[in-house]
Amino acid sequence: MFKTIRGPQGGEINLDGRDVINMASNNYLGFADHPALVKAAKDAIDEYGVSAGAARHIIGNFEIHNQLEKKLAEFKEVEDTCVFSSGLTANTGVIPILVGKGDEVFSDELNHASIIDGIRLSRATVKVYKHKDMADLERLLKESDASAKEDGRTPNKLIVSDAVFSMDGDLATIPEIVALGKKYGVKVMIDDAHGDGVMGKAGRGTVDHFGVRDGVYVETGSLSKAFGSSGGFVAGPKELIDRVKLQARSFIFTATPIQPAFAAAALKALEMLMEDDAPVRKLWENRDYFMSKLSVLGYDLGHTESPVVPVMVGDEDKAREMSEKMYDEGVFAQAIVYPTVAKGKARLRVMISAAHTKEDLDKAVKAFEKVGKEMGLIGN
Ligand SMILES: Cc1ncc(COP(=O)(O)O)c(C=O)c1O
Repeated sequence: MFKTIRGPQGGEINLDGRDVINMASNNYLGFADHPALVKAAKDAIDEYGVSAGAARHIIGNFEIHNQLEKKLAEFKEVEDTCVFSSGLTANTGVIPILVGKGDEVFSDELNHASIIDGIRLSRATVKVYKHKDMADLERLLKESDASAKEDGRTPNKLIVSDAVFSMDGDLATIPEIVALGKKYGVKVMIDDAHGDGVMGKAGRGTVDHFGVRDGVYVETGSLSKAFGSSGGFVAGPKELIDRVKLQARSFIFTATPIQPAFAAAALKALEMLMEDDAPVRKLWENRDYFMSKLSVLGYDLGHTESPVVPVMVGDEDKAREMSEKMYDEGVFAQAIVYPTVAKGKARLRVMISAAHTKEDLDKAVKAFEKVGKEMGLIGN
């Protein structure tokens, strides 16, 4: 059903028995098999064993969890953080704490599934605005104010958005979201799963990139992408994080918190980035190099502003076929089709990594040229 990797996640991988350039992983900084992270994880296994054994608030709270949360708060420049077993559970855990039945959430139409699930679990009313359309968001905020006034209600409200949209690589217009949040007195939540370790100074994230830290109430993120480990987190004011640790169902009702070895690897990733941002710079150098080569070939690359590069194909079968042809050429880029993206918007999603060498990128560009011409996607 799925292609299978032998060996570690890296710029090149062995996939179904074939060595290919890996252009599908979230391993933005090449940390997934970094010797320092591997050592940190191994040392943590020696020290703590392999399982947390219980929920954090029962008897599963290890000192490495506290150290990671402290370092993450320092890195994200927030008061406090709470780490979860995944970014998905961070979103489904925190949203029901921020809003409940009778409240309202304003959500970008392309937000990640875990945000959508978090909203569903909260039982708040969702108002979906058109992708990045601030006029549409303001229309909904205005309408909501008017109807609440008419009914004499005072619902809690939340605007929530991905920072880097995971299938298109474009950025939310966070400064404008923050401005609307201020204007209408609505809290803002940003999910930066694909921006942490990638955007902002030394990978501090997209909120840092835009310089609007004060306007964002809470952020969620993932430790499984740029940080090369596994897990997720909520970052924000201490009063909220305290509530998250006591109330978030996906945090409390699991004996699978982030395991000590993953916490140790994530902590090492943060320490390394805080010391030297070379991997972030390498990532962007690779991304800019690849983009410049691919756009010359004439591909439609959507509106990406990040290392997520959608090579637009349109037709679903064609996208699948292209992915297979690329694999035959020694390059793996995943076809993304409906329902992950809208019908007729199928694409190959290319994920650039600091782990790619220039030779890897050149080989990938050559394959895109050959396959694109063969399939009539680009001109000869
Ligand atoms: C925007 C976004 N939020 C949340 C998640 C979930 O994070 P995780 O993979 O750590 O569960 C993902 C990724 O898969 C994502 O792309």
